[in-house]
Amino acid sequence: MTHRTLTAASAGFLVLSTTWVGCTAANQSDEDPSLARGEVANLATDYEAENGVCQGTIDSNHSGYSGTGFCNTDNAVGAAVEWTVNAAAAGNVAISVRYANGTTVDRPADISVNGTVVAAAKSFAGTGAWTTWTNVTLNVGLVAGSNKVRLAATTANGAANIDRLSVDAPSDTQAPTIPQNLRTTDVQSKSITLAWDPSTDNVGVTAYDIGNDGQKFGEVTGNPPPATKTLTGLRPKTTYRLTVFGRDAAGNVSQASNQVNVTTPPTSDTTPPTAPGNLSSSDVTNTSVKLSWTASTDNVGVTGYDIYANNAPLIQDLPPSTSYTVTNLAANTEYSFSVRAKDDGNNVSNASNTVTVRTANVPPGGGVPTSVSTVSSGWSIPWGAAWLPDGSALLNERETFNMYKLTQSGTKTLVGKVPNVVTTNGEGGLLGLAVDPNWNSNHYVYVMHTASEGNRIARLTYDGNSLSGYTSLVQGIAKNNFHNGGRIAFGPDGFLYATCGDARNGSLAQDKNSLNGKILRIKTDGSAAPGNPFNNRVYSYGHRNPQGLAWDSAGRLWSSELGDGSTDELNLITPGANYGWPTCEGNCNVSGMTNPKKTWSTSQASPSGIDIVNNVVYMASLRGQRLWRIPLDGTNAGTPTAYYVNTYGRLRTVLKVPGQSAFWLTTTNADFNGSGGAGSDKVYKVLVQ
Ligand code: GCU
Ligand code: CA
Repeated sequence: MTHRTLTAASAGFLVLSTTWVGCTAANQSDEDPSLARGEVANLATDYEAENGVCQGTIDSNHSGYSGTGFCNTDNAVGAAVEWTVNAAAAGNVAISVRYANGTTVDRPADISVNGTVVAAAKSFAGTGAWTTWTNVTLNVGLVAGSNKVRLAATTANGAANIDRLSVDAPSDTQAPTIPQNLRTTDVQSKSITLAWDPSTDNVGVTAYDIGNDGQKFGEVTGNPPPATKTLTGLRPKTTYRLTVFGRDAAGNVSQASNQVNVTTPPTSDTTPPTAPGNLSSSDVTNTSVKLSWTASTDNVGVTGYDIYANNAPLIQDLPPSTSYTVTNLAANTEYSFSVRAKDDGNNVSNASNTVTVRTANVPPGGGVPTSVSTVSSGWSIPWGAAWLPDGSALLNERETFNMYKLTQSGTKTLVGKVPNVVTTNGEGGLLGLAVDPNWNSNHYVYVMHTASEGNRIARLTYDGNSLSGYTSLVQGIAKNNFHNGGRIAFGPDGFLYATCGDARNGSLAQDKNSLNGKILRIKTDGSAAPGNPFNNRVYSYGHRNPQGLAWDSAGRLWSSELGDGSTDELNLITPGANYGWPTCEGNCNVSGMTNPKKTWSTSQASPSGIDIVNNVVYMASLRGQRLWRIPLDGTNAGTPTAYYVNTYGRLRTVLKVPGQSAFWLTTTNADFNGSGGAGSDKVYKVLVQ
């Protein structure tokens, strides 16, 4: 759930970056032996010999060097190469000197730092050829700031040919502090200027990201970057909900600043366009209808059209044309469409005439929802849900941190409050829930939740009466106000799977050693499950904010994922596959990255939970306020059909009822995006045929 816009009217209005954070500025050594051991790579900075002081000549006649050449030192005692090295902080680091020695005679050299020899007559043995390069590595102490690292030959042969010096820096894992006191300093109809009190950082703040709800809205960069930003191209009479995040060169992102809600004022143009006329329909299928109308006129100019279905906005900000094919409609369903025009001042016309259309009958694939009944009311953001062996279910409430038991006949009992949970004033809190397959003997239940230091997977004992024995199993999953993932479920293999969001730091999704932007597969003690692709807890990577997990009848894992500015995904998950974020959102053509099986525009989906009944995926959509039905055919996903558009509000969790062609469906109308208020959420039962 990224709630990209407050008013859906701003969707698609701004040009949005698809990448939330930039990449690291420092080079990663391509010869770092720690990479081969599968450890976390340190960031190294390379200093080429040709950029240092070379007592000799800069040559390029022997291939295999980096940069533009190497230092061929004079064949004399004391022949030297010296580099100026900048250290972010004082401390010991590993340095490597890359060299070639095409003779069979050692060419020892003294290595000194800031005038002190730290390795006397260090060996630079023959490498077999002048084109064969290798590294001599040693640990040295550096002072903060500028250091002189010098290599000086100790024999009359001079030094070897010296290619470069690489200086490791410990990976920077410390995020900048939270920007404070975010405020507006200027608000115009189409622009907002923000200012804030800057973040600080152990290494240095290099950027600020501006967020509008869960979406990146802009950035400022610099060293340090200015603590102000003017957002342009905004829509008049529109509310923006802005936060700012500090970011460092390693891609660490702070938690969100305070949120500023600001509404842009109108322009001087207060005259709306005329209403579009002669709305008509044609080309009706079971999922689509073509609408045509005659153009509106305006004193300044028509900038676009909105299509309404049953008096609610369905498609916003179409460019000014006079026809549009509405897709993704529910089969055999009546819709009343109307169209309104907009102008540059965001003035909205009266509605066109209304046309009522019934879509064609059901598509192939079966599993059509036939009836909806209320199991239980009075909930506030129910999130994770799982069945107990007795046929009742446990459900978590995200912001109260309460776990409840709910029977199929609707009896609700408080189980207890899960300890150590904190809110993110966003999408974190008490999230996923799973019941141990051996609950009858061990009484273990599992939750995924936000804690003070980040997101966790934890175990509790539920003995049938109350909760006890809180044990944290996995920590170190970064959190943020949005993008926390949060779904957990046991797979058919008996291992626990978990969806982890990118915590607004897209680069983590591509780091196989990070738990963020991943689907994890773990044992019930929290350790990596056997057979995982990277010998750690990671099962698949390159995810942004996955929140749905379900297995089909052949045991294949499917997962729904919230996209950024444009495209949500349903993915078929295979171990070790890379689902592309942040390089790709939706489909793209990048080698090594796996495309989704289905995509949706974020306005029509923004999916959270999924479950599978008779090989049909049912996907709950938050912003899209609808249930998607996606029949599966082996590894293919068939044509999606929408149900209940804008009928039950924002939909969160789907939970198949054991032994029935039915599922439970929960809402999220009680959060800051919904309009329902506390206690407005419900648990429904949906029968399928
Ligand atoms: C050769 C070789 C040089 C090297 C020199 C030496 O001339 O081409 O690259 O520096 O031997 O022995 O120092
Ligand atoms: Ca030489």
